[in-house]
Amino acid sequence: MVCFTYFVTLALAYAGVVSAFPTHASLAGLSRDEVDRALASLEQATPTPPPGPLSDSGTKLVNDDLHPYIAPGENDIRGPCPALNALASHGYINRNGIANPAEIITAVMEGFNMDHGVAVYTTYAAFIVDGNLITNLLSIGEKTSLTGRSSSGTTAGGLNTHNTFEGDSSITRMDAYFGDNHNFNEKLFQEFIEYSNKYGGGKYNLSVACEFRRKRFQDSIATNPEFTIVAPRFYTAYADAVLPINLWVDGRQDDGQLDIEAARTFFEGGRFPPDFHRAARPMGANNEMVVFEAHPIEPGSNVKGVNTYTPDHSTPQKLDDLCVQYTFHVENTVRKMYPNPEGPLLESLKINLGYLFSAVKDKGCEELFPYGR
Ligand code: HEM
Repeated sequence: MVCFTYFVTLALAYAGVVSAFPTHASLAGLSRDEVDRALASLEQATPTPPPGPLSDSGTKLVNDDLHPYIAPGENDIRGPCPALNALASHGYINRNGIANPAEIITAVMEGFNMDHGVAVYTTYAAFIVDGNLITNLLSIGEKTSLTGRSSSGTTAGGLNTHNTFEGDSSITRMDAYFGDNHNFNEKLFQEFIEYSNKYGGGKYNLSVACEFRRKRFQDSIATNPEFTIVAPRFYTAYADAVLPINLWVDGRQDDGQLDIEAARTFFEGGRFPPDFHRAARPMGANNEMVVFEAHPIEPGSNVKGVNTYTPDHSTPQKLDDLCVQYTFHVENTVRKMYPNPEGPLLESLKINLGYLFSAVKDKGCEELFPYGR
């Protein structure tokens, strides 16, 4: 009898878990049946168009009284992006770490002065693959234990999801192969300090970024049998190397020299330094080509274990061409994740792909309609 009661309780609990699809989990890669089951429990929200650029885009105090740091609580989600973690912990987005794309775009512009086009492109590119296109919510990570395993038992993943937007050879996070792709790693940060001392006179700057970017690729090639660096991670790996230089140096200082204490506050603490003023002007991945050209690498993967890095020419090596990146994202990454969308999922995909395109429209890119107009 005890056994039977236990079985029934377990079955009911399981049924509860599977019927309530997480409101912030992606529907990418699900079968038609799975999507239908998920739709039954999700409340549909209207997609949010991207907000416009800031009207006042100079430096200003952003670690202010209206946005105090509050450490994340047990149920709050944090993930691999230290900047989004900080925006959540300062209340620029919901402190629980779940937000809609428009809220994220507003927050990265307001809190860091991220360039409007970069903010819109990055947010929708990530949201379409890692967010929930029905509820219009994206989670900046997943509730995790220290080992990096999901503690909630769901697969909500959000920005932690490996090889959709998150990827290998990060600055302060380990490769997913080693078990935890999203928490700060002290050993990696010590290497970051070592390189900042050696190439930057104790600061993280463009010279350090050139050398450390190469080192992190080399480390992964030599230690991670599953190392892969193809689109979109091939592009974001270079952006991530320069964002701390462009957007984490206090706007009043504005000299491209990030001191180690501030770097630790962002990377490890997921918070703004005291009295932090955002960048002096809107910035994005400025100078990423300098980092790329210092030690160019072709997109590719370890194909047969460590030290078997083999170029993969399906990812265009076009770091400086956003139209090419947009085309690849839409025609390859997104198409593969949503091969045959229908109903509300299809409608939302079309609308959000339109918002993604709005970020590259003025670059002269051709709009793509993989699911029809
Ligand atoms: C616009 C929306 C944003 C999205 C969707 C986003 C997403 C991500 C993701 C998924 C990662 C993990 C990449 C990886 O290591 O595999 C990441 C890392 C990173 N992001 Fe963001 N991010 C955004 C905005 C920003 C902003 C505004 C900044 C700077 C102010 C920033 C700075 C960084 C840095 C420095 C890393 C590298 C962390 C590391 O390698 O240790 N991000 N971001």
